[in-house]
Amino acid sequence: MLGLTVATDPGWVNAALRDVGAVLVDHAHCEVKAAANALSLAARHPGDLSLVRALTSLAREEIDHFQRVLDLLEARGLALGPPPVDAYAAELRRASSASSRPASLTALVDRLLVGALIEARSCERFKLLAEALGDDERELRALHVELFEAEARHYRTYVDLATTAAGPAAANAVPARLAALSEVEGRIVASLARGVDRATIHG
Ligand SMILES: [Fe+2]
Ligand SMILES: [Fe+2]
Repeated sequence: MLGLTVATDPGWVNAALRDVGAVLVDHAHCEVKAAANALSLAARHPGDLSLVRALTSLAREEIDHFQRVLDLLEARGLALGPPPVDAYAAELRRASSASSRPASLTALVDRLLVGALIEARSCERFKLLAEALGDDERELRALHVELFEAEARHYRTYVDLATTAAGPAAANAVPARLAALSEVEGRIVASLARGVDRATIHG
C-alpha cells in the first residue's frame, strides 16, 4: 500500500488494541514530530516559496491532528508525557543520508521521500486500527478513518514535492529512490516488530 514494501505484521493490531492509550500517546507525539519536521524543512529552504507553502500547510494539518488526539487523551485522563525515543524515524533518516543516494538527487529529495514513507506507514496503521476498533470506540474509529485519508494525501504531497525538488532532469530517478528507501523502511519495521513494546504507531 502507498509505496510500502512490507505490510505490518498482523500481530501489531492485537498489541495496539491491548493498549489503545499507549498508542494514542505515541500517536500524539507522531503528529507533533510530523509538524516539526515539515516546519524544519520549510525553514531550511526559504528560497522555494511553493515548497515552503506546501510544507507549512501540511504542518498546520499535523498540528490540528495533534490537538484532536490531545483532546482524546485528556478525555481519557491520559498524560502526554515526554516524547519517546523514535528509533524508526532516526534509522530511516540515517539510511537516507547514506551514500546510497544517486548523484542526481539531493538530500532534500531524500528528506521528502522519507517524509512520504512515514506518512504511508501512519496511514496503513490508522487503517488497520480503524478496521479493528469496535463499536465501543466509535469516536476513536472515526478519527482514524479521517486521519487515514489525510495521511494518504500527505504521502502523495511529499512524493510530488520530491519530484518537483528533483527537477525535470532528475525526476525520473525519484520512483526508484522511493522504492529503495521503502525497502529500507520495510526492514526497519520488520526489525522493530521483534521488540517487546509494540503499542506504537511506527514500532
Ligand atoms: Fe497527521
Ligand atoms: Fe501526515
